[in-house]
Amino acid sequence: MTTEHPRIPLAGVIGHPIAHSRSPALHGFWLKRYGIKGHYIPMDVAPADLAHVLQTLPKMGFVGVNITIPHKEEILKIADIITDRAALIGAANTLIFRKDGRIHADNTDGAGFIANLRQNAPNWDPTAGPATVFGAGGAARAVIAALIEVGVPEVRLANRTRPRAEAIRSDFGAKVVVSEWVQAANMLDGATTVVNTTSLGMTGKPDFRVPLDGLSPSATVTDIVYTPLMTQFLIEAQEVGCTVVDGLGMLLHQAAPGFERWFGTRPEVDEDTRRAVLGG
Ligand code: ATR
Repeated sequence: MTTEHPRIPLAGVIGHPIAHSRSPALHGFWLKRYGIKGHYIPMDVAPADLAHVLQTLPKMGFVGVNITIPHKEEILKIADIITDRAALIGAANTLIFRKDGRIHADNTDGAGFIANLRQNAPNWDPTAGPATVFGAGGAARAVIAALIEVGVPEVRLANRTRPRAEAIRSDFGAKVVVSEWVQAANMLDGATTVVNTTSLGMTGKPDFRVPLDGLSPSATVTDIVYTPLMTQFLIEAQEVGCTVVDGLGMLLHQAAPGFERWFGTRPEVDEDTRRAVLGG
């Protein structure tokens, strides 16, 4: 039996910059909703200070943190325990500070991506046909790892910078088939899952444009961009008759496992959660 006073659990998100992050609004909403005495704090930490800050945080009552740009890859060099999926993706977004002092690093982006599709496209069947993925950055690696895990038979991949797509093929195996970026439209024929993982379509950037003639109305189409919620790409896919799912749910669902581990309650992702984050 301990006579110590229970510590108020602290968590947060570390990035550089961090002011734009929606994670504090999201976790703050859940803490309030579930009546948990805890706090979730945005922390702007320069790359040179990251390792030192991570050593200090547990001493202040932090039970873990989210890690975002530009630290998601670098954190793998600092963490003590790295999950297989974080190692395969080459990046982590969720840390747990263990009682034995070791830092546990996981990547929940892929699970968030799948949970978003399952929630918002309940009839989506990843095994029904090939998945087409545009873009080969960090987000694409998480999405492709998750798609393969849930049983897609083939991942068709194209990226403006082809070697990044080739690197994914060599890391993830023969299910990944790389195409030329300029021939991206050819990858849509027969695809049942279609994902934009590029940053194109985000407010302030050019739209992601690909001729959708080959796209089947039975495909499920999603975008990891969530500002705006309905990207031009999703609007056009909806006009074809596809089921479309916006990217906000991926952000919400990737946050749930961290919240559960740090604060002990599995948070629900629902309309009120979406509203809290959009307004925050
Ligand atoms: P993230 O971790 O969010 O995926 P990233 O690693 O910077 O971020 O990847 C951004 C993705 O958007 C990449 O696939 C990038 O293509 P490149 O690898 O060729 O850079 C893609 N992207 C960004 N701007 C683009 C543009 N103007 N045209 C085509 N693709 C673009």
